Amino acid sequence: MDGAPGRVVIAGGSGLIGTALCASYRDAGYAVTRLVRRPAGQPDERCWDPAAPDPALVDGADILVNLAGAPLGDRRWTASYRETVRASRVGTAQALARMAAAAARPPARFLSASGIRFYGIDRGAEVLTEDSAPGDGGLLPSVAREWEAATEPASAAGVAVCHLRLGLVLAREGGLLARLLPLFRLGLGARFGTGREYWSYVSLGDAVNAFRYLSKRDGAAGPYNVTAPEPVPNREFTAALGRALRRPVPFSVPFAVLRPVFGGIAAEVFGGLRVIPARLADDGFVCRHPDVDTAIAAALAGVRRPRWAAHADPHEPPPAVPRGGPGPAARPRNGIAGPAE
Ligand SMILES: NC(=O)c1ccc[n+]([C@@H]2O[C@H](COP(=O)([O-])OP(=O)(O)OC[C@H]3O[C@@H](n4cnc5c(N)ncnc54)[C@H](OP(=O)(O)O)[C@@H]3O)[C@@H](O)[C@H]2O)c1
Repeated sequence: MDGAPGRVVIAGGSGLIGTALCASYRDAGYAVTRLVRRPAGQPDERCWDPAAPDPALVDGADILVNLAGAPLGDRRWTASYRETVRASRVGTAQALARMAAAAARPPARFLSASGIRFYGIDRGAEVLTEDSAPGDGGLLPSVAREWEAATEPASAAGVAVCHLRLGLVLAREGGLLARLLPLFRLGLGARFGTGREYWSYVSLGDAVNAFRYLSKRDGAAGPYNVTAPEPVPNREFTAALGRALRRPVPFSVPFAVLRPVFGGIAAEVFGGLRVIPARLADDGFVCRHPDVDTAIAAALAGVRRPRWAAHADPHEPPPAVPRGGPGPAARPRNGIAGPAE
């Protein structure tokens, strides 16, 4: 793909990752259209119905992004909610893929979210790359496999499809970290399970930058693990969080306690996977928060989009800095890509 910004269409753009990604694309000069399931209320929104996909909505887009999915941590996983979790990912991916395939001018690239639960629930200390075998044993591994397979109509029509297997996205604005923070701030932090289960995290900034990177990377297609290169056992993760907050982490919550609280999803939330971003690293993508301390620090700093923020593509020259430099207030706090001009 050439280096010029283009037009991006995003489903699920109102969520944690989508909000930051839309801002990053806009800052880089892309025209962004968000597909929303309610009546459109903003100039950049278009109403869509995943049950009645309209190819005209993606016609002429350069990049199509799928970030849709019902939340995993907000509700009890009843049989009907399990179906919502599945359908909101698989059905949406399939609807978007069909729209892309049927569009008069299909998007060149389809970046579709997936998750590291593709590799299963708990694989001990095994290092998992994109070449590792899929796992099974729970809802999320089977959803992830179906989620990725659902984009087949787009691939068959010649669209380059990337599946971004996201790790635990760290942000104070949402996700698991936002739920843990109040407890840890009160000094009630705990390690979970045996403490040996690997947590494969990624800063929100690096997750956004991975989407931006794959938007322009020539020949990008297939699965990409979007995780920091140094996953750690959760006892190290929770200790690092305690250090960052200057609070003790006095407790240990074994699975016997997690199961009654979280029900069947305890293992799916806290099971260990040691996933590394082998393909992104081979491609030269530079992770700005490669270790647990820098990733947690970036998450705690929150979303900042300063004018001279770090650039998404490490192969591109950084944007010009005015004489005198950006000044301390303008320095990136979490590494989310800023303007490309
Ligand atoms: N955050 C993580 O740690 C993480 C890790 C691995 C994978 N992922 C995946 O990455 C994607 C984005 O994550 P996120 O953290 O940004 O999620 P999020 O904040 O929960 O946002 C997801 C978006 O999905 C849409 N959505 C919600 N319920 C839906 C439903 N029933 N049917 C269709 N769409 C629905 C909403 O957009 P509209 O209301 O605008 O349609 C929402 O903004 C999700 O698919 C998630 O599973 C996230």
